[in-house]
Amino acid sequence: MLIIWLYSIFLANLIKVLAVDVDPWNNITNTIDLYSDTLQPDYFHVNNTVLDECQLHIRRSYSLEREKQEFDKFWASLDPDSLHSSFYNDLVISSDKYQNPNATYMLAQIHLYGDYGFPHNKSLGFHYLDKFNNLTDYQNATALFDMGVLYTTGLLGTTEIDIPKGLAFFEKAADSGDLRAKQALAYRYLVGMNVPKDCGKALFLYRQLAEHIFERFTPEEWSIEFPPLESYNIRVSDLDGGLLGEGLNRITSSIKRSASKRPDLFSIYYTQMNEGKVYLSFNSDESVLGSNDDDVLDKLVDSYYTALDLFKGTYNTRRTPEMARLLLESIFEEFDSSVASMDNLQAHFYGRCVDLLGHIYLTGEGLPSSDANTAETYLNRSLQVVENLSSIFTTTNKDLGLIHQYKYGNITKAVQYYKKIFNKWGSAGGPDYQLAKLSIEHPEMKLGNPLVLMQQGHMRGYLPSTYEFASMLENGINDNYNIEDTALVYKLFVESNDWLMAPRLRDTYARLLLGDTESALWGYAVAAEQGYESAQVSAAYIMYKQPNLYGKSTELLATRKRLAVTYYARAFRQLNIDAGVIAGNLYFEMGDYPRALTSYQSAALKYSPMALWNLGYMYENALGVEKDYHLAKRFYDEALTFDPNILWGVKFSLLQLQIKSWYYWLIRSEETTIAGAQSSSIVKVLPFYKQLINLFRYSGSDSLSKDKVDKVTSNTQQQSAETAFLGRFSSLFIIVTVICIQYVIRFVLAIRQGRAHVRAEQPEPAHINEE
Ligand SMILES: *[C@@H]1O[C@H](CO)[C@@H](O)[C@H](O)[C@H]1NC(C)=O
Ligand SMILES: *[C@@H]1O[C@H](CO)[C@@H](O)[C@H](O)[C@H]1NC(C)=O
Ligand SMILES: *[C@@H]1O[C@H](CO)[C@@H](O)[C@H](O)[C@H]1NC(C)=O
Ligand SMILES: *[C@@H]1O[C@H](CO)[C@@H](O)[C@H](O)[C@H]1NC(C)=O
Ligand SMILES: *[C@@H]1O[C@H](CO)[C@@H](O)[C@H](O)[C@H]1NC(C)=O
Ligand SMILES: *[C@@H]1O[C@H](CO)[C@@H](O)[C@H](O)[C@H]1NC(C)=O
Ligand SMILES: *[C@@H]1O[C@H](CO)[C@@H](O)[C@H](O)[C@H]1NC(C)=O
Ligand SMILES: *[C@@H]1O[C@H](CO)[C@@H](O)[C@H](O)[C@H]1NC(C)=O
Ligand SMILES: *[C@@H]1O[C@H](CO)[C@@H](O)[C@H](O)[C@H]1NC(C)=O
Repeated sequence: MLIIWLYSIFLANLIKVLAVDVDPWNNITNTIDLYSDTLQPDYFHVNNTVLDECQLHIRRSYSLEREKQEFDKFWASLDPDSLHSSFYNDLVISSDKYQNPNATYMLAQIHLYGDYGFPHNKSLGFHYLDKFNNLTDYQNATALFDMGVLYTTGLLGTTEIDIPKGLAFFEKAADSGDLRAKQALAYRYLVGMNVPKDCGKALFLYRQLAEHIFERFTPEEWSIEFPPLESYNIRVSDLDGGLLGEGLNRITSSIKRSASKRPDLFSIYYTQMNEGKVYLSFNSDESVLGSNDDDVLDKLVDSYYTALDLFKGTYNTRRTPEMARLLLESIFEEFDSSVASMDNLQAHFYGRCVDLLGHIYLTGEGLPSSDANTAETYLNRSLQVVENLSSIFTTTNKDLGLIHQYKYGNITKAVQYYKKIFNKWGSAGGPDYQLAKLSIEHPEMKLGNPLVLMQQGHMRGYLPSTYEFASMLENGINDNYNIEDTALVYKLFVESNDWLMAPRLRDTYARLLLGDTESALWGYAVAAEQGYESAQVSAAYIMYKQPNLYGKSTELLATRKRLAVTYYARAFRQLNIDAGVIAGNLYFEMGDYPRALTSYQSAALKYSPMALWNLGYMYENALGVEKDYHLAKRFYDEALTFDPNILWGVKFSLLQLQIKSWYYWLIRSEETTIAGAQSSSIVKVLPFYKQLINLFRYSGSDSLSKDKVDKVTSNTQQQSAETAFLGRFSSLFIIVTVICIQYVIRFVLAIRQGRAHVRAEQPEPAHINEE
């Protein structure tokens, strides 16, 4: 008995000793392999709709105290037996006890980016990163870059910013081959930020990166068909209507991969295509005519757009060409025999389905290999179906061109196909790229100027064109050699490949939608260091947005405001003029008129109507400049000539501002009353609407003395409900009348004295601030 007992104790201890004495790193990697879905659900899985259901909700108010509380709350409420808990404990043991660098690095990432749903904690992130570098003797280039970002950003207000130290880390990381560090340095040399401007150096680095990216694609992808990239290079503001608001933005939206919306089949374009026949849907049994046709059309339209989204991927779902192909094949089997009886609209969408199917076979994605024969069959069919509808062109022509060029080697025929569509926007630049290359290889065919063709492909967003165009510029074709322009084209190419250069942007997008604002902010801050204009705007926008009517502008820490304005200013230097206007507004709000003025002036030089308008405002009201009505009017007029819309945009925001200031006026005087009631020595200030009520009620009495008003107010509860209602109603009526009269007067004044004058009494330039 005793022996067994002793033996079992011995065994238990042995297990304990063994268990404790082993670095749990293997356990950690096993856990990640086995339970990755529990640790971090795959939000981008086709069947995961979590992100679809998210509303963009950014929490802009920031306080270290609250972050700490939430951090503590998370850990206090975490079930100690849960997978997350043991996973994290293993990591800490592995790092603290066994000095495992891999666990240490993972802890740093968890605390910076909020991986696996853990709350971010920048000081812990810094601690572990620092430790990792100590452990690896500063040899790991990835971590050196991370460290550089910690120093150049000061962890967004957590530590001191130390640019020279940050740059030294970047240099070292770049020397060891880190791509992101090279990109960050190239950007700084290109714009001359904290380093002397040196476009040659920037060009050198960007070209190196571009060549590295070039190597990552197969020669087929490169020369025949470039795959769609899943880019998350977007401005957060564009998910929200843009920086300046709908209709006032000068910068085109960066949102290009949202899920397809079903087109309006009753639109003129589609109606014309269907020879003016419009189908009305009835509920199933009631419909006598065409219910079957409607079902067919619905199915074709839905299948086409679903397959397209599956093939290209959207922001919320990853690409799955295989599912797209299966769906389209089922459509082909179901409908191909009934094409003859289809009407134009149905045939149009059926043709598109078959076209996409052929394209998928040509690229061979989701298949063992590319299958040009099957592709050609489908494409032939698509062309046959669709080209019966005279007004339509399709990318089928491009794919057939590719087949004839690369499979049959019949360039004459390929060129015929390309030429059908090469100058159409829907072609996405592919044919221009092929023609440009052919025109170099076969000058005798007189296909056109290769540089011009390549530039066309580049402008239409075909990335191989962008790369080739940059190298053509660099080699000085047509004496078009300008180092800075060339570097900018390379930069665009490099940044478009964010799947490689900034792979964190995808997670960052998910964190943002899931409401983890601070972790998302870090993700964008890192990409901003790499020179992404979109990320600079995103980081700034997460910290500061122009307040609108309903949102009270959040109390921002001074450091956050300064950071936001820095990022806006950087984006402005990269020619985002809307960001320049917001930077000006932020300076204005901070009371820094000279800088606000400079921002507006430089944005105005780039033809920003909003900046011109705000400049007019500053001159009109002598803010940071001498009062100059003449100049103010000139700015207003100029703004209106660039964009007549601005008048309505600005008027609308002014109206919002007006309503808001009244609202706060009401609130504030109410508060004053309460404060007054508490300390009797202060004279009571009645809110004006109460005064109006009294005025209305006692209009018969001779005067409205202060005592009387006070007495009336204290008696309010005793009044009958009826009178109270009447009083409220009448005061509302008076308010509305006053507002109307005010506006009538204003508009009359505006018409008489020139439109610019509408602005005269407003406290802010085209944005709202309740102070
Ligand atoms: C290994 O991980 C599992 C969870 O996956 C955990 O339950 C277990 O305690 C871990 N083992 C050690 C020795 O840390
Ligand atoms: C997604 O769900 C559908 C059923 O709704 C299923 O047929 C399909 O296989 C799932 N896709 C994946 C990739 O799991
Ligand atoms: C970060 O973690 C440390 C140590 O656990 C804690 O003291 C601190 O409050 C945390 N900070 C934040 C902002 O969560
Ligand atoms: C740096 O260390 C991390 C974690 O061990 C690793 O994932 C990464 O590949 C390393 N980077 C380089 C350049 O070796
Ligand atoms: C850390 O990970 C790297 C691969 O990223 C591996 O080569 C190395 O052996 C790991 N180190 C430890 C201590 O597990
Ligand atoms: C890393 O090393 C430096 C000195 O070499 C030291 O000051 C610092 O505390 C170390 N960091 C960690 C996290 O161990
Ligand atoms: C496609 O159509 C062309 C004629 O337009 C024909 O020569 C070719 O054989 C067809 N290809 C296939 C695979 O059907
Ligand atoms: C296209 O139109 C021709 C006649 O113009 C007809 O013979 C042919 O069947 C049509 N093709 C399809 C696929 O509807
Ligand atoms: C290429 O196509 C053209 C036009 O269809 C044809 O005339 C020519 O014979 C073809 N050339 C070859 C080598 O097949």
